[in-house]
Amino acid sequence: MDEESLQELVHDKLGDYLVIVVSNREPYIHNWEGEEIKCVQPASGLAIALDPVLQACSGLWIAHGSGDADVDVVDENNKIQVPPETPRYTLKRVWLSKSEEEGYYDGFSNKALWPLCHTVYVRPEFNKSDWDMYQKVNRLFAQVVIEEINEHKAFVFIQDYHLALVAQYIKEQHPNVITAQFWHIPWPNSEAFRICPWREEILHGLLANDLLGFHTMYNCNNFLETVDRHLECKIERERYAVIKGGHTTLVRPFPLGIAFDKISARANSRHVTRQVEQLRHFYGLGTEFIGLGIDRVDYTKGIPERLKAVDRFLEEYPEYEERLTFVQVGVPNRMRVEAYQRINDEIDELVDKINWRHGIGRWKPIVYINRHCLQDTLTALSRLADFCIVNSLQDGMNLVAKEFVASRTDRDGALILSQFTGAARELPEALLINPYSIDDTVAGIKEALEMPRGERHKRMSRMRKTVRSNNIYNWAASIITELTNSEFFEA
Ligand code: F6P
Repeated sequence: MDEESLQELVHDKLGDYLVIVVSNREPYIHNWEGEEIKCVQPASGLAIALDPVLQACSGLWIAHGSGDADVDVVDENNKIQVPPETPRYTLKRVWLSKSEEEGYYDGFSNKALWPLCHTVYVRPEFNKSDWDMYQKVNRLFAQVVIEEINEHKAFVFIQDYHLALVAQYIKEQHPNVITAQFWHIPWPNSEAFRICPWREEILHGLLANDLLGFHTMYNCNNFLETVDRHLECKIERERYAVIKGGHTTLVRPFPLGIAFDKISARANSRHVTRQVEQLRHFYGLGTEFIGLGIDRVDYTKGIPERLKAVDRFLEEYPEYEERLTFVQVGVPNRMRVEAYQRINDEIDELVDKINWRHGIGRWKPIVYINRHCLQDTLTALSRLADFCIVNSLQDGMNLVAKEFVASRTDRDGALILSQFTGAARELPEALLINPYSIDDTVAGIKEALEMPRGERHKRMSRMRKTVRSNNIYNWAASIITELTNSEFFEA
């Protein structure tokens, strides 16, 4: 499936429907830089993955306007055509006050739901005031959607854990609107979910959807088990459906993909080829081997564990000193939340410590790029690395792993991948590790560095085949096909 075939599918199946995507994070952010307004794509797997889908469908995307110049570039309906250089669809921005953002985004979304669903031993914080704000902001998003729908036939595609109640609020006023929701993070087992004081309300909210998607079957099973345990309703296991108050919700796995061909083309572009050399020069990446990590700075990503593995690797195999440099991109994120401030500090300290311990003359084993990077830069870094480590302690999918594979048009490079990512289920040719075991990660680095070229090519070719065929257009097409084939869909 490619962009054109998705366009045809949308036209055939949803031709007279208004297609609306709703998410917290917007795909393009406008910020002031001195006297100029600059537009960037955020470090969000969700936003980057869905952008090509919206470009193919020419729909409407509703999201929180989080940039400080966002308000200066929209029209009187808070809309702007994007991407800025070649507009293909409409972005409508929703404005939140500081206290709404604090309660709904920092608070209930990221202090409660995020740690609750990731189960990496960061304790969720449940505050009634955050929950109240979460409901209020979910209503606000629903209201903006409703205003857009007016009397149209509409398909609303809701994204992620920030908006668990939006479908319910829309359906209270427009029961015939079709809604699907994709939960981009893991769904924990029912025992873990049980501690949430508003678990029933969240489940009710999600079950207002006609279709509910997760990355893996494992997540779907956890969700059904949670519903079974906490709500009065009928679960049809053979159909993966929940029936509550006469309404059916289908629960399905749809592993998220990327725009493989676009990323591969970018990797081959003259601009990125030039950047590879510029980056090598700028960061002093002249060593024989380069390792790479690219993440938002988040305690689920296993960044300290990864740095400790590089440290231990150099201790155990000193023959690699001055021959290996590990580049870690850490994009700062959610910095108002204390757990994120702590992980930032921990990483800074570890980088200093490891560089001090192993550094020789000009060579430092770790280059830490602690800022937002453009997609071209990330692709260039992926091209120049010998291996990439994705050792998330828990991750719904992890698109960095797939982007690394898409960037390797030379079929070289090794991927060390946590077995606790959704991506690991699709990429058995990666070097799969348990991220909680530093020894395992050290062994992964050793294997990546010493793997014969032919073996690297064989593995990378297979991974490229998988990532190319399970691409983002396929993902969107599977969701649309599932919906339009279902009983509630009216052509
Ligand atoms: O993984 C969940 C998710 O919402 C992703 O879809 C996205 O990549 C990431 O979190 C971004 O987080 P935020 O929008 O808080 O910056």
